[in-house]
Amino acid sequence: MKLWKGRFKKEADPKTNDFNSSIAFDSRMAQQDIEGSIAHATMLGRQGIIAEGESMKLCVELGKIREDLASGLLAIDPDAEDIHTFIEQELTARLGNTGKRLHTGRSRNDQVALDIRLTLREDCASLKAQLKELLAVLCKKAEQYSETVMPGYTHMQRAQPVTFGHHLMAYGEMLLRDLSRFEDAVKRMDVCPLGCGALAGTTYPLDRELTAKLLGFTQVAQNSLDAVSDRDFCAEIAFAASLCMVHLSRLCEELVLWCSWEFRFIELDDAYCTGSSIMPQKKNPDLAELIRGKSGRVFGDLMGLLTIMKGLPLAYNKDMQEDKEAVFDAVDTLKLCLTPLIPMLDTMKVREDNMRAAAAGGFINATDCADYLVAVKGFPFREAYKLTGELVALCIEQGFTLENLPLEKYQQVCPAFDETIYQAISLDRSVGDRRVIGGPAPENVKAQARRVAALLKDEGEEK
Ligand code: ARG
Repeated sequence: MKLWKGRFKKEADPKTNDFNSSIAFDSRMAQQDIEGSIAHATMLGRQGIIAEGESMKLCVELGKIREDLASGLLAIDPDAEDIHTFIEQELTARLGNTGKRLHTGRSRNDQVALDIRLTLREDCASLKAQLKELLAVLCKKAEQYSETVMPGYTHMQRAQPVTFGHHLMAYGEMLLRDLSRFEDAVKRMDVCPLGCGALAGTTYPLDRELTAKLLGFTQVAQNSLDAVSDRDFCAEIAFAASLCMVHLSRLCEELVLWCSWEFRFIELDDAYCTGSSIMPQKKNPDLAELIRGKSGRVFGDLMGLLTIMKGLPLAYNKDMQEDKEAVFDAVDTLKLCLTPLIPMLDTMKVREDNMRAAAAGGFINATDCADYLVAVKGFPFREAYKLTGELVALCIEQGFTLENLPLEKYQQVCPAFDETIYQAISLDRSVGDRRVIGGPAPENVKAQARRVAALLKDEGEEK
C-alpha cells in the first residue's frame, strides 16, 4: 500500500518499488518514528486540530505498535516503501479513520529529518560511552607505564626518549577531542524540524515548541526550507567518526608495529589475535589491521554524504534518502571497531625491557649530550650540536653507544667532558627532567592521566 495513491491511475512497476524503497535501512528508526508520531499526535489533540479522544487513541495504539515491534509480535513488512509508511499503515489498519488523521500538518520530509536526529542522538550517546571507556583504559595504562622509557620517533627514526605512558596519553588527547567533536555535533543537531511540513510549514496552528519539548529538543528549526533539506548533522557526525577512525587507525598501526618481532614492544592477548592456515608460528594482529582498514569505509561514508548534498537545490530531493546508509554505517563501523579495541588494549602485555633496550641503542640521548655541553660547560648550542654529531659518528665507527663510550674518547672530541656526562645522558634523567608542561616526565604523565580519568568520572556521574 502506498500513502500517495490518489493521483495515479496505474500501479508502480515492481522494479520502481524495489528501487525506491528504503525500508531495508530505515527500519532502524522505527522506535524513533513512533516517538515522533506520539509527540505529533499529542500536540494535534492539545491544539484542537484533531479531537482529544482521537489523539489519545493514536498515542495508545502507537505505544502498542512500539511494544509489538519490540517483542517481535509485529514484523516490519519488507515490501513497505519506508518505515514511516509502514507504521502509518499499521496504525490505520488497527484504528481505521482515526489512524488516517495522524499525518495532519506533517510530511515525511519533516518526519524523516526528525527521525534521523532522534536516532543519531542515541547513537552518539553510546559512542561517547565507548570512547570514554577507551579513554579510561588509556589513562590506567598511562599511569601504570609512566616510567617505562621507550624511544620516541620522528621519520620512524629513534629521536628522543619518552615513556610508554606519555605515548598512550597522546592518543588520550586525540580521543578527548573526538569526544568533544561528538558533543558539539549533538548540540548543533538539537533543533527540531517537526512542523516544517514538506517544505513550507503548514496552515494548521501547530505548537512546534510543544513537540520539540516532548521530544527533548531545546530548539525549533527557524526556516522550514532549511529544516527539511539540512543534513549537516549527518556530515558532521560522519566527520567526527572519520577523524576518530584516523586516530584509531594510527594507534592500530602502532600496535601492529609494536607486536612485530622487529619491535617486540607489546604482546597482544591470544584472545584478540588470529593464526595462519599455513604458518604455524604466526600470531597475527588481524583486529588492529581491520580497524586500520575500516577507517577507509568511514571516510567513504563522509565523502558520499558530502557528494550527495553538494548539488541539491532546496528543499527535499530523493537523493537525500541515501543519507541514512552512509551515516549509520559510519557510526556502526566506529562502534564495531571500539568494541574489541578496548579489551585488546586492556589485556596487552607490555615488554618494558625491549622498549628500554631500543631506547638505549639508538643515540636518542644525543640531544641530552649537546644540552650538557650547553648547560654545564657553557657552549653555544650550535657548537655543542656539532661536537655531539662528531661523537655519534665516532661511536658508530668504533661500535660504541654514548652510554659506554670511554671518557678519553669523549675528551678526544672535546676536552671539556668529564665524568658527569654519564649521568647527564642517562635515559631516566633525560625523561625525568622533561618536566615542561606537556613533557614526558613521569609525574606530568601521571597527573594528566589522573586529570583525564577524573574528568570522565565526573561526567559519568552527572548523567
Ligand atoms: N524514505 C524517504 C527518505 O528517507 C522519506 C522521505 C520521503 N519523502 C518524499 N518526499 N518522498 O528520505
